[in-house]
Amino acid sequence: MNEDKSLTFSLVTGAAGFIGSNLVDYLLDKGHQVLALDNESANNDNFYWNDKAINVRGDMTDYAFMKNVMSRNVNYVFHLAAESRLQPAIENPIQAVQRNCVGTTVMLQCAREVGVKRFVYSSTSSGYGNNPWPNDETQPDDCLNPYSVSKVSAEKFCKMYSSLYGLETVVLRYFNVFGERCPTRGQYAPVIGIFDRQKESGEPLTIVGNGSQKRDFIYVKDIARANYLASLMPLKGKVGEVFNVGSAKNYSVQQIADTISDDQVYIPERNGEMDTTLADITKIGETIGWEPEVDVLEWITNR
Ligand SMILES: NC(=O)c1ccc[n+]([C@@H]2O[C@H](COP(=O)([O-])OP(=O)(O)OC[C@H]3O[C@@H](n4cnc5c(N)ncnc54)[C@H](O)[C@@H]3O)[C@@H](O)[C@H]2O)c1
Repeated sequence: MNEDKSLTFSLVTGAAGFIGSNLVDYLLDKGHQVLALDNESANNDNFYWNDKAINVRGDMTDYAFMKNVMSRNVNYVFHLAAESRLQPAIENPIQAVQRNCVGTTVMLQCAREVGVKRFVYSSTSSGYGNNPWPNDETQPDDCLNPYSVSKVSAEKFCKMYSSLYGLETVVLRYFNVFGERCPTRGQYAPVIGIFDRQKESGEPLTIVGNGSQKRDFIYVKDIARANYLASLMPLKGKVGEVFNVGSAKNYSVQQIADTISDDQVYIPERNGEMDTTLADITKIGETIGWEPEVDVLEWITNR
């Protein structure tokens, strides 16, 4: 596809993944021209490329390559490419740091050099660790695993690129994302993806621990809308800051399982995971006017 200089030009990294591909579709619907970048390195069942985007296969940790890609008058960067799963990061912390810290720094540096208007970084609620809930953005970091440390370190780079170099950055901390294209492969896919796969293949749902752990689930298209608003709304003096993107309510893993199938077994708890997540979403609502629209149990029941 050729570039049209009259359109807003947005780069999405991790564009063929779960959330990135939904964001690409959303931005195209909003009339953006989209440069979609992914190296298909995730252990996902499928990668999703939209023919209406300019699709580029490549590694966002490669500075020379990314500088070249971004020299095409990119206005906005939505940086989602990452080691995106907690357990693989526990198994391979060096790779997590390479993708999440080094990769984000490469992206920020290129964005700074080519004069990007705003850089929206996808971070994670796992930075809250065992803070009391609901989690709000004033709480101290409590990083329990390499995924969380590497993602939160990259948040600090975003903030520093704003204060030192004047690049406008926004950090969005997602809670547990669900929705269309959720990966189902492997034991470390998101919980709803694993349950869907198990139900489809006639296996019992494997509930970790006793299933009482609670998660704040947020719909992937609500996440896409949050990214869009974060790129264009005034930030009211909050450039470089962190914003929660959650639903502000939570359900236990047992409740989710019960909505999908009664055929269930329990497996041992895993180290490094939080017991409860629950977002306070006051800040993002007040700043850019975002709020969630889709409830996870209704979505599971009505799909
Ligand atoms: N899914 C969730 O519940 C959740 C929660 C909090 C934060 N996040 C964050 O949201 C972002 C997207 O997560 P997702 O669930 O869509 O994950 P995903 O793994 O489906 O998507 C990430 C994509 O990035 C690509 N990628 C990885 N390394 C790359 C590299 N070096 N160069 C180019 N592409 C690369 C992968 O191939 C993959 O397609 C991640 O930054 C993740 O940390 C996700």
